[in-house]
Amino acid sequence: MKKALIAGITGQDGSYLAEFLLKKGYQVHGIIRRSSLGNTKRLDHVVQNQTLDERNLMLHYGDITDSSRLEKLVGNIRPDEVYNLAAQSHVQVSFNEPIYTADVVACGALKILEAVRSNLGRETVRFYQATSCEIFGNSKISPQNEETPLHPDNPYACGKVFAFHNVRLYRDAYGLHASNGILFNHESPRRGETFVTRKITRGLAQILAGKEEKLFLGNLDAKRDWGHARDYVEAMWLMLQQPLGGDYVIATGESKTVKNFLEVAFGLVDLNWQDYVEIDPKLIRPVDVDSFIGDSSRARTMLGWSPRTSFLELTREMVIRDLQEEGLSPDRYGLKI
Ligand code: NAP
Ligand code: GDD
Repeated sequence: MKKALIAGITGQDGSYLAEFLLKKGYQVHGIIRRSSLGNTKRLDHVVQNQTLDERNLMLHYGDITDSSRLEKLVGNIRPDEVYNLAAQSHVQVSFNEPIYTADVVACGALKILEAVRSNLGRETVRFYQATSCEIFGNSKISPQNEETPLHPDNPYACGKVFAFHNVRLYRDAYGLHASNGILFNHESPRRGETFVTRKITRGLAQILAGKEEKLFLGNLDAKRDWGHARDYVEAMWLMLQQPLGGDYVIATGESKTVKNFLEVAFGLVDLNWQDYVEIDPKLIRPVDVDSFIGDSSRARTMLGWSPRTSFLELTREMVIRDLQEEGLSPDRYGLKI
């Protein structure tokens, strides 16, 4: 039975990846942070479904900034595949907390990479790093692919560039099977509540439930290449099944504005978003990336990967799930599940 270790297993992607690997027959180990209130909400359904005899998901306390703990976990578990998804992943927060973000996003990635290199032979382990299209920043080149020059435009992106180069270096210098997944935005009903898509679908459901009257947002003209997280975790796994490590852009190739997302989400329940949305200047970032659009030809050719979920299906799924969270029937709005 293959063993995988996931740092960041409690996050959006970590939960989908854990489910995906368990279905493939892996024993999955996850690193979770100790917190005074639970942080395993996205995994509880998996944990509860396990029987005592058949426990293929194991959670271990740890923090990506604690190299001694990472050394011990990697050394004891001896995983075949390591996925580093742990991050302070909010771009706007990274402007307020740049040092902490660098500790987690940049040094954290290097610490787990070094724990892997020093404990396990290069023939026995494969490493995945959650890189982001944010490394391209406001690029002059569109669409962006693996050859696009890096121009990070926020502290989070600077941290991801540091990690990106170290993964490439460990591949070249030590022959480690290490890959960067350069993922463009991906969303789902499990998306954190402060990212714009989830903030919109959750806000919409709260308006319909009569709990809120308005939704406060920032830059509505920004364009993002939005896919579904469930589709993107498959690409992570495919990268580690290749004979050699490499860097791959994962994207849909379609870019939409925040306004487009609002139109579709509110349109699904026959509301006009302009009646509900107000701009809060505090939500405008010191620098924002105007537009991302990815060219994932390399992944499509070499990994045989392509996205399965359309922008409309993604938005619909998120709206339906947030209506249900508020105890509202999607049927009432003509939305069939
Ligand atoms: P997410 O929902 O914010 O999850 C981040 C995960 O990292 C959580 O499990 C979090 O734990 C964990 N974490 C944070 N700080 C940690 C620390 N100090 N030690 C250990 N774990 C820590 O992010 P996501 O959307 O799933 O994204 C997964 C990865 O892909 C991230 O690295 C992100 O930067 C990158 N990425 C995401 C996207 C996207 O559009 N979603 C695109 C490109 C790249 P808690 O649950 O305890 O907070
Ligand atoms: N979060 C947020 N909240 N964003 C808003 C809001 C708001 O109220 N109003 C407008 N936006 C705009 C942001 O300025 C940005 O241009 C766009 O919506 C998307 O913001 P987020 O959903 O926060 O995502 P992100 O693109 O900044 O970052 C996400 O994707 C990256 C890949 O491009 C994160 O998941 C990163 O971790 C990831 O690397």
